[in-house]
Amino acid sequence: MLCSICLALVPVSVSTDPFPPTAESMVFLAIGDWGGSGDSAPTTPTERDNAQGMGNVAEAVGGVRFVLAQGDNFYFHGINGNDQCPRFKSGFEDEFNHPALQVNFYAIAGNHDHYGNVTAQVAYTHDSKRWVFPSLWYSFSESFNTSAGKIVTTEFVQLDTVTLAGMSDDDDLGVLHPHPMQAYNAEQMRFLEQTLAASTADYLWVGGHYPMYSQCQHGPTDEIISQVLPLMQKYKASGMIAGHDHCMAHYVEDNMAFVLTGAGKQCCYHPANINNGKNPGQPAFRMDRDRFLGTAGFTSFTVTEAGTTIKYHDQHGKELYTSEAVKPRSTSGTPSPTPPPRNWECYSDRKSNLGGDSDAYWFASQDLCKAHCDSIPGCVAINWHKPYQHCHIKVGSFPESVFKTSLQRDTNWNSCWAGASQIGYTQTVV
Ligand SMILES: *[C@@H]1O[C@H](CO)[C@@H](O)[C@H](O)[C@H]1NC(C)=O
Ligand SMILES: *[C@@H]1O[C@H](CO)[C@@H](O)[C@H](O)[C@H]1NC(C)=O
Repeated sequence: MLCSICLALVPVSVSTDPFPPTAESMVFLAIGDWGGSGDSAPTTPTERDNAQGMGNVAEAVGGVRFVLAQGDNFYFHGINGNDQCPRFKSGFEDEFNHPALQVNFYAIAGNHDHYGNVTAQVAYTHDSKRWVFPSLWYSFSESFNTSAGKIVTTEFVQLDTVTLAGMSDDDDLGVLHPHPMQAYNAEQMRFLEQTLAASTADYLWVGGHYPMYSQCQHGPTDEIISQVLPLMQKYKASGMIAGHDHCMAHYVEDNMAFVLTGAGKQCCYHPANINNGKNPGQPAFRMDRDRFLGTAGFTSFTVTEAGTTIKYHDQHGKELYTSEAVKPRSTSGTPSPTPPPRNWECYSDRKSNLGGDSDAYWFASQDLCKAHCDSIPGCVAINWHKPYQHCHIKVGSFPESVFKTSLQRDTNWNSCWAGASQIGYTQTVV
């Protein structure tokens, strides 16, 4: 087994087109944990919905440049046989047959792939027009040239997280077992550091199967936090894109985005690690068993010269959430100054019916709901719906006294006022 993998161990950098296309932006997609349900069921109805949803989004944005396939490409035991295995056709080529998805799929292996012949997945790169998996770990760049002549480059280092952290066993959630590939991890880490250190890209992402952070049942990955995070901080990476937990999440830390996009064929696992202190607080967005927004999903990344925004989609392509832009590396060292915190005052078991109400249900806690309100011009109050952990923001111009008299007793709600003296709303005389 090990020796068949050795062939794949030469780290590769996929070279960039020297004449990048002219455009003002570039969109790419990411999925994880998408690979069917076994040799007798190489695809599933939900996975097909998701592939169709990806195609629809790709078409709607005028085409995507490429797709990241972040592992667990072939459930449950990877590829049985060689690169002629029929799963490549039934589970990949036929699956992503939408005309707008005829682009490179940059793949990496997940734990389920490591039960089978990963070398066959690497070898399949030479058999397919779209499948790109040149080595167990590798880097690649994709660029575009703005009409003003600025070349905007996004670089990726795709890592083999089984080599990094060991083998995940689905019956023993959150626990990783030793795997022989870990003997090669020092080599992989050298490749990672050399690539990050040499990068001049505007955006620099690390990809892999196991995530840095996750609220779901597998949870954050210790070895990635201890080994990869310090390098990402040192070389000002843009973030990490991974799967493994069949959920989605957006965590933000140190100007970096940590994207969990593991709902390729199924959602959702239980958010057993929502309060795990190894995660950087609560996610800004989450989709999991307690925040069930779709039966599967994927992410899209829109890259411009000014920033990369991340959208989370359900299996039909519907947008569930749009992130704040990840700034290019040249400017990420100087985050825009944050306004001073406002004077929040919360009333338990009260609900206010004043002002325009908009539902921002994806904010996972009352504090994040308040922070969201702080970022919305004219937002003066929130209603927090306790049983559903649901955020409603109130935008309008009315004084605190009116807010206070609008409060009605309701044990399912808390209502908070943002602090009248510190915001520039028009005081209405009543
Ligand atoms: C694994 O795949 C490679 C490449 O297709 C092939 O050469 C090798 O024989 C396969 N190994 C097994 C055990 O099937
Ligand atoms: C980028 O675009 C500008 C303006 O359209 C053009 O002059 C320049 O040659 C392009 N560069 C590349 C590498 O394509």
